[in-house]
Amino acid sequence: MKKILVLNGSPRKDSVSSALCESLVSSAGEAEIKKYNAYKLAAKPCMGCGYCDKNVGCCFDDLDEFMRDFEQADYFVISTPVYNSGVPAPLKAVVDRFQRYYALRFAHGVKPPVAKHKKAALVIAAGSKGEGKDEIKAMFERQFTVLNTELVTTVFFDGTDTRTPDESIHEEAKNAGKALFS
Ligand SMILES: Cc1cc2nc3c(=O)[nH]c(=O)nc-3n(C[C@H](O)[C@H](O)[C@H](O)COP(=O)(O)O)c2cc1C
Repeated sequence: MKKILVLNGSPRKDSVSSALCESLVSSAGEAEIKKYNAYKLAAKPCMGCGYCDKNVGCCFDDLDEFMRDFEQADYFVISTPVYNSGVPAPLKAVVDRFQRYYALRFAHGVKPPVAKHKKAALVIAAGSKGEGKDEIKAMFERQFTVLNTELVTTVFFDGTDTRTPDESIHEEAKNAGKALFS
């Protein structure tokens, strides 16, 4: 059965990005789905200590279960609000903690450092028109080149300061899910 790892980056109960992410994942059909919220996960920020250059893994063990789920996943779905043209700090902390795979690739020479290929989707919500999508997409696309992960689709809903998502954007998210899981 396909394994899906979902990482939500919003702290809000009525999160637009999480709701659209739910619509996207609803297209998965039968699947084993593991969901994390970056705020609950509360990853310790990477210290740049170089432990992962000399050892396999991280000096912190708080993300061990999450990273196991990541390694086993076939699909990686990330949803996030735009915060100051980037992602909220708790999600950025998780992003930085993937450094252990950079170290595996470039310090330990393991290729690929993540054995199982993954297809990924990004769901982004922004308060203003057009903000943050390119920056966030570029960050994940660059990181995915090392993580054996391919960004297949991005759903972007902007202008949440003045509008709420209607059925058409949820339909777009479901269609993005169909493209991802096909
Ligand atoms: C700290 C903070 C920073 C934000 N920065 C931006 C921003 O730079 N650009 C933007 O368009 N919206 C910004 N927003 C608005 C959110 O992106 C917007 O409300 C979004 O819909 C929230 O997504 P969510 O409902 O999934 O939490 C910011 C909101 C907060 C709380």
